[in-house]
Amino acid sequence: MTDRPSFFPTVGEDQAQEVANATFWESLLAIAEEDRDVRSIESVLDVGCHNGALLGRIAKRWNLRRLYGIEPITSLRQAAIERLSELSLETLCILDPDRWNEVADGSIDLVLSQEVLYLVEDVAELFRQIARVLVPTGVAYLTLGCHTENPLWPRWREVLVGMGFTVYDHAPMDILRHAESVGLWSALRPLRRDGWIIHTPSAARFPVPDVAALMDHHYRHKLLFRLEK
Ligand SMILES: C[S@@+](CC[C@H](N)C(=O)[O-])C[C@H]1O[C@@H](n2cnc3c(N)ncnc32)[C@H](O)[C@@H]1O
Repeated sequence: MTDRPSFFPTVGEDQAQEVANATFWESLLAIAEEDRDVRSIESVLDVGCHNGALLGRIAKRWNLRRLYGIEPITSLRQAAIERLSELSLETLCILDPDRWNEVADGSIDLVLSQEVLYLVEDVAELFRQIARVLVPTGVAYLTLGCHTENPLWPRWREVLVGMGFTVYDHAPMDILRHAESVGLWSALRPLRRDGWIIHTPSAARFPVPDVAALMDHHYRHKLLFRLEK
């Protein structure tokens, strides 16, 4: 996986994620802002940070000083470093997942992860790392639509396998169990409850049979997990 030139089959599709995922990112940040005082946040770690677009958006919005990303694809790590080096930061640290240990214990105020858990086999181990790096008052927000309770998952799973990925079937209740097993308090909600759904059928890499399924995906099955120490 690390040798892929991009996550999607073309670099252009990867770059398009910034527009495609903006709705999800905005919902995630708005919920975080409602949930806690983000003015005290200095360090953010994004698991599956891709080309650093979400980290860059947050850094500007919340005036962050320390940014961390975990990303297995070498070219995306490089893209993230290039993009984020333009910000004036105290720390910029973008690491392969096998270098989690380079993030110090109790050093991160907030962990984010947008649609990554289906690519992770050992979710309990990931949560152990998250619990380790969070400060005592820290929080992690993780979104996931690709899970076994989403009726679209079996079709989308096939698409991802066709793209060459190994993917994992995680049930939302198991995500909560993994959090509990490492001593994190967990909560969940749908990421979105309303708002425009941008969908161009001919351009959709992940097929959706009808509008009812599309609405269920956006307003019901795309979940946001909150994990606290
Ligand atoms: C669907 S993309 C989502 C990218 C980004 N979070 C976003 O919101 O656009 C999944 C990302 O997770 C990365 N990834 C895959 N396995 C991972 C792992 N074990 N740890 C961290 N990131 C991983 C992929 O390379 C890819 O960049």
